[in-house]
Amino acid sequence: MTQEVDRSVSAIKAAYKGDFPKVALILGSGLGKFGDIMDIDTIISYDQIPDFPQPTVAGHAGRLLIGKVGKTPLVCMQGRMHLYEGHPADKLAISIRTFKRLGVEKLIITNAAGSLHLDMPAGSIMRIDDHVNMSGHNPLIGLNDDNFGPRFFDMTEAYDPDMRDKLAHSAKALNIHLHSGVYVQLTGPNFETPAEIRMLGKLGIDAVGMSTVQECLVARHCGIAVAGVSLITNLGAGLSPTPLSHEETLTEAEKAFGDISRLLVHFIDGLSA
Ligand code: HPA
Repeated sequence: MTQEVDRSVSAIKAAYKGDFPKVALILGSGLGKFGDIMDIDTIISYDQIPDFPQPTVAGHAGRLLIGKVGKTPLVCMQGRMHLYEGHPADKLAISIRTFKRLGVEKLIITNAAGSLHLDMPAGSIMRIDDHVNMSGHNPLIGLNDDNFGPRFFDMTEAYDPDMRDKLAHSAKALNIHLHSGVYVQLTGPNFETPAEIRMLGKLGIDAVGMSTVQECLVARHCGIAVAGVSLITNLGAGLSPTPLSHEETLTEAEKAFGDISRLLVHFIDGLSA
């Protein structure tokens, strides 16, 4: 793992000579367009970075964008890798650990998710306050790499309290309704059954998806502060009046793009203050 991270760090340093941003953003399904809002300095395709797993899903481009949002320097993953694509969990750690080595201190993770609440329908935005790992995977299984963090580590405030406050502040300033709740990661690639959605509801889950938790685990292990935002693209199976599809995810993300991108811009701009 250390060698893979070393190679990725070298490839990025060869392609980008400036000071590396301290803030990173992972764009979820349908949010790739956020790249158009950034003031981009350098684009590095993942295939230029040895050992970065390649995304295979529609709507996930597979590029690293380095530039600014407002006054904040930002590195953005336009396209992420998921467990269900067959990437082993520990391979998902490479990008986050590469960021850590390059000096990233804060990571904003976004995703598309299904809602467990009728009053948090498609188009809603949910701040992730905590998560449940139901993916059956953990990228930190195996020998611990003490260079990155300790074998056992605390997840009490996995989603950074200060960034949670700042997200709420940005939403208020922009008059955007921001829900908050607990996100669960399942492996996918299928959407849940109605029985699974009923079970998740009883367990106190608010939103369900197929990403984020693995990335949060790797980031917290190496001391990167994490913020999480879910864009709700549908009600969970059984609550939704129609069958679920990836097309619906992308269409609903497109419709809600205006609000979530405004929120992210305001929030990211404020991080360098
Ligand atoms: N379930 C899991 N992942 C998702 C969903 C969902 O309903 N919507 C978008 N991503």
